[in-house]
Amino acid sequence: MTNQNSPSTPLLSQDELKTLVGKAALKYVVPGEIVGVGTGSTVNKFIDALATMKDQIKGAVSSSVASTERLLALGIPVFDCNEVSELSVYIDGADEIDGQGHMVKGGGAALTREKIVAAQSRQFVCIADDSKLVETLGRFPLPVEVIPMAAQQLIRQFSVMGGVAKVRLKGNAPLVTDNGQWILDVTGLTVTDPLAFEAKVSQWPGVVTVGVFAFQKAKVCLLGTASGVKTITY
Ligand code: 5RP
Repeated sequence: MTNQNSPSTPLLSQDELKTLVGKAALKYVVPGEIVGVGTGSTVNKFIDALATMKDQIKGAVSSSVASTERLLALGIPVFDCNEVSELSVYIDGADEIDGQGHMVKGGGAALTREKIVAAQSRQFVCIADDSKLVETLGRFPLPVEVIPMAAQQLIRQFSVMGGVAKVRLKGNAPLVTDNGQWILDVTGLTVTDPLAFEAKVSQWPGVVTVGVFAFQKAKVCLLGTASGVKTITY
């Protein structure tokens, strides 16, 4: 792991740090190509920055309806995953990232499409403010997209592991993802072996996607800090 600090900047708000890393990610966008785009408030900053170079790229593959709408509103063409082969880069945020580039994702309920686009990309560039950096994954409730009929069985399975899983709600009803499924948020877990955890939970019947990104971990993290954007490579 290597760190490169940029020159120090005055104390910035979390929102300003997100803008900073969103802009910094532009240097990973390959002119003439299609870029993989994640979801969330940090990615929204990246999308806004990407609009400034929209004439230099073919377009984007998006990981959610929300990102697609933002990209299109800014005049950036959006391609379906099935229309493209390998992407050179996927740029997305994270809810947590550890010292090896493993992440927890899905706070915005877009984890399944995020993992699909990440798997299609040669490198994952994570953009995050430094509140997302953790020693061990497990501080943020772990999102898991599930088939609704399996929800109660999966809640029991997480409980055997020591976790407390709850169906994510929107108002009084379960939140329904872009894929028509539900999200479980699991607290009380410490993920010491992200690869083994992802492999195990991914195989439970009814799990669509677990929010641990170990197989699709970040190759680079642009971390917004009080002293500027730190580039961490794994
Ligand atoms: C969405 C995600 C986001 O990348 C994650 O929740 C971080 O979001 P934000 O940039 O808003 O903090 O995984 O499913």
